[in-house]
Amino acid sequence: MHEHVKIALEVHGLTKRFTKNEGFRWPWRRRDNGRRTIVAVDHVDFQVRRGEIFGILGPNGSGKSTLVRCIATLLIPDEGTITVFGHDVLREEMAVKRLINRVSVEASFFKKLTPMENLLYGARLYGLGAKEARQRILEILTRLGLKREDAFRPMEEMSRGMQQKVAIARAFLTQPILLLLDEPTTGLDPRSKREVQTFIRELRDTHDATILLTTHDMQEADALCDRVAILDEGRIVALDTPQGLKAQVARADDGEVTLEDVFMELTGKRLREEETE
Ligand SMILES: Nc1ncnc2c1ncn2[C@@H]1O[C@H](COP(=O)(O)OP(=O)(O)OP(=O)(O)O)[C@@H](O)[C@H]1O
Ligand SMILES: [Mg+2]
Repeated sequence: MHEHVKIALEVHGLTKRFTKNEGFRWPWRRRDNGRRTIVAVDHVDFQVRRGEIFGILGPNGSGKSTLVRCIATLLIPDEGTITVFGHDVLREEMAVKRLINRVSVEASFFKKLTPMENLLYGARLYGLGAKEARQRILEILTRLGLKREDAFRPMEEMSRGMQQKVAIARAFLTQPILLLLDEPTTGLDPRSKREVQTFIRELRDTHDATILLTTHDMQEADALCDRVAILDEGRIVALDTPQGLKAQVARADDGEVTLEDVFMELTGKRLREEETE
């Protein structure tokens, strides 16, 4: 299916606005000063090639999650179009839903149940057999660095990072063609971060998956992504390979340029307003 399609995702002129009174969940982040709307995503254009790991790098509130939610058919754009392997997200929502899977930090689980129970429930929704699913679940969880016994403890007893790994495992269960990872490694310790990153790479290499991920983490974007779009206040301010982005910023002192330097040069801001580690 879709073997011939080389472009996994095409976003064209995407704009998403929110009205001010809906912004109550982040009142401390409001920049609108009494104005009526926030332009969370502002005329964004990009394409992701099949098999690519594509990063969206941006500070808090730059529109990363909003962009991902629009692609995942959870929000309706105000302007622009999104196609996933040639399917329009609005007109062919069901076809798109079958091709994608989204993982976010606010993943929902049955907290009294164990990861195994939660994941078996997810697997059944996708029509996997219980025996096959059980084996695959254990394999994925241990690959992500969870212990076997963790699969059989209630979710509510687990740390945030562990829960996040279970959320990632759930997305990998169904082997989606386009995986949308909203900050897959935020809040994970360095070792867990590396485990998740390795797993993402493996998934791309061995399962023909295309991956769109968001991150605040410069090293992650640099190490993991084939190309990176830098998002600032809803707009893409640069899009290139990590190497290409770094080459755009000439350093007078001849020192090594990092993506952080690129970001500061392009936006005049620091990227990290908060660090969750
Ligand atoms: N449901 C909503 N209602 C109103 N405003 C929203 C809503 N969702 C997002 N916003 C606003 O849109 C802007 C972009 O938010 P978004 O969550 O996409 O940013 P982000 O880049 O994912 O940030 P973070 O790094 O903190 O996750 C912010 O100003 C936010 O307040
Ligand atoms: Mg977000």
